[in-house]
Amino acid sequence: MDEIRIENVAEANVEDLCRVCLPQDEHDPDWMIGVEEKKQWAAEMLPRWGSFAKVAYQGADPVGMMQYRPIPEERIVYIDCIYVPPAKGLRKGIATRLFSALMSDVRKPMAWFDDERPLALVVNTFEGGAHGQYTAREFFTGKGFRQVGEDPDHLYYPLQPGFVYRPIDKRDAECIRRSEDMGRVLIIRGPNGCPATYPFFLKKMEKYIREIDPEVPIRWIDSSQEPGELSKRNARVGDCIVNARLVKCFVLDKESFQKEVQALLKVG
Ligand SMILES: CC(C)(COP(=O)(O)OP(=O)(O)OC[C@H]1O[C@@H](n2cnc3c(N)ncnc32)[C@H](O)[C@@H]1OP(=O)(O)O)[C@@H](O)C(=O)NCCC(=O)NCCS
Repeated sequence: MDEIRIENVAEANVEDLCRVCLPQDEHDPDWMIGVEEKKQWAAEMLPRWGSFAKVAYQGADPVGMMQYRPIPEERIVYIDCIYVPPAKGLRKGIATRLFSALMSDVRKPMAWFDDERPLALVVNTFEGGAHGQYTAREFFTGKGFRQVGEDPDHLYYPLQPGFVYRPIDKRDAECIRRSEDMGRVLIIRGPNGCPATYPFFLKKMEKYIREIDPEVPIRWIDSSQEPGELSKRNARVGDCIVNARLVKCFVLDKESFQKEVQALLKVG
């Protein structure tokens, strides 16, 4: 059996990065939209940050990936995602190889931080594991990550002795309420780092909202087509806005999500 090897993402293998998380034999058009949105996002990330992800290969086959980016103002490396598809073979050390490759990068001075070493790795995980997969939280805590505050999914790994991570809250304002958004729902899509955002998360939002209110108008906004519509609301890709207010519950917690939407639909 071929050895696992890790490659930094570059123009030549960006397609692998964008497709490796696809469910096997997935040809659903919504997933293809998700892949295209990820490709648009990756095309912006590469010139901006240089390599921002690692892809694991077994022979020519992509078998896992990890993506991350710098937050220069905090001198941290933020991990956006780690994923090894169940079909590619779990518990074979693929994720550990990806993580070790990142660790060896971040222990050295990095151009991202003016040739300084970063202070920490930071990640926000969610319950995304399935079919015998470990959750990202289990994986990262197993690698020595600690909780940042109250939230068990917000984790960091100090890279310098004694460093304690205290995040800057970057979402300076709540979503800006617009009178034209009263009595309707907005779902924000567009280029982003996860091919599941459109087909899995956002389409689920639409479905769960339709289950509780078959009539409410739902408007999809594509950030790449109408960026002004996001900035005037302080919105971002992945947001769901109901009656001019941002839904805070995660869509995979269906009961809480629907409860929150129902409550927001009632407010005037
Ligand atoms: C977490 C994940 C990346 C691990 O991938 P993997 O290649 O199977 O992991 P590894 O083989 O490197 O195993 C890492 C460690 O986890 C342990 N582990 C992995 N899966 C496990 C499982 N299902 N049960 C128990 N232990 C498990 C391994 O034993 C190993 O422990 P060790 O370091 O003490 O030996 C993979 O399961 C996954 O993609 N899960 C979903 C993650 C997710 O939701 N991502 C999106 C949000 S960021």
